[in-house]
Amino acid sequence: MVSYKDLGLVNSRELFAKAIEGGYAIPAFNFNNMEQMQAIIQACVETASPVILQVSAGARKYANQTLLRYMAQGAVEYARELGRAIPIVLHLDHGNSFELCKSCIETGFSSVMIDGSSLPYDENVALTRQVVDYAHRYDVTVEGELGVLAGVEDEVAAEESHYTRPEDVEDFVKKTGVDSLAISIGTSHGANKFRPEQCTRGADGVLVPPPLRFDILEEIEKRIPGFPIVLHGSSSVPQEYVRIINTHGGALKDAVGIPEEQLRRAAKSAVCKINIDSDGRLAMTAAVRKVFVDQPAEFDPRKYLGPARDELKKLYMHKCREVLGSAGKA
Ligand code: G3H
Ligand code: 13P
Ligand code: ZN
Repeated sequence: MVSYKDLGLVNSRELFAKAIEGGYAIPAFNFNNMEQMQAIIQACVETASPVILQVSAGARKYANQTLLRYMAQGAVEYARELGRAIPIVLHLDHGNSFELCKSCIETGFSSVMIDGSSLPYDENVALTRQVVDYAHRYDVTVEGELGVLAGVEDEVAAEESHYTRPEDVEDFVKKTGVDSLAISIGTSHGANKFRPEQCTRGADGVLVPPPLRFDILEEIEKRIPGFPIVLHGSSSVPQEYVRIINTHGGALKDAVGIPEEQLRRAAKSAVCKINIDSDGRLAMTAAVRKVFVDQPAEFDPRKYLGPARDELKKLYMHKCREVLGSAGKA
């Protein structure tokens, strides 16, 4: 058993309490490799932002859970070396079983998500309760989920979304003992968050998505005042990255995300954790494609992964400063 406390990591409890109080959200960025981890830590140290490093099931399959855990441990030292010991949470993203959550807790994760959102309500409650009972023995915080996000990614797939029912949240939180709750109010995973027919067209032909359901969020806040809410699927899909990708050999069609303005509004509410992965993928892909097209003779991975890392850092600094409001809160 390795305790996250011995690795210099923190759980999410105090970060969320401060975020709700201060009207901002903690960034939750996914990482699968060294360059992503470096970009996240550099950006959060420079902006003095607390951060949640997220590991998905896909990341565990790709990079190995043990390696990722040691990388997060290294991130604590790395941040200090860069000049600021920011609070770092190591979080399991979309855990799908008790055994997986237990294994993460035993190897140094400080926070886990148990995603029972696709299960019938009572089964979601029972599974989440089981994870909470185990996690709280070690002071590890737990995120549960109610409502289903649409969107397809490697390990997260749902054809149909349905919004969180505000009338369920109080009962769910009480019965499970979770520390935070992910809800569905119109976000979704991936770079194609909405079908074109769900959107209108802006003057420049760009797709304009339907707004998030702030009415549902407000109703939820009324029923569980001050309780930490989490938004998944919160990439904004910057159209400049889509343009660079598509003019450098890529083929992204109808890519559309959540406008930053709406995330700013959410961050000021009880939403205190905002998950962003796809935007980072777009930033890295745009930078790599540019090197491949502009410098076709280049074959040193550092020459394309380096610019990708720099672009990612820039993007994350922007998120902390201009969108989530977490800059300066470390
Ligand atoms: O919510 C899902 C994250 O973007 C992780 O995606 O399962 O492809 O690693 P992944
Ligand atoms: P995006 O695909 O919008 O980046 O969402 C990521 C996420 O929710 C990770 O859990
Ligand atoms: Zn997610």
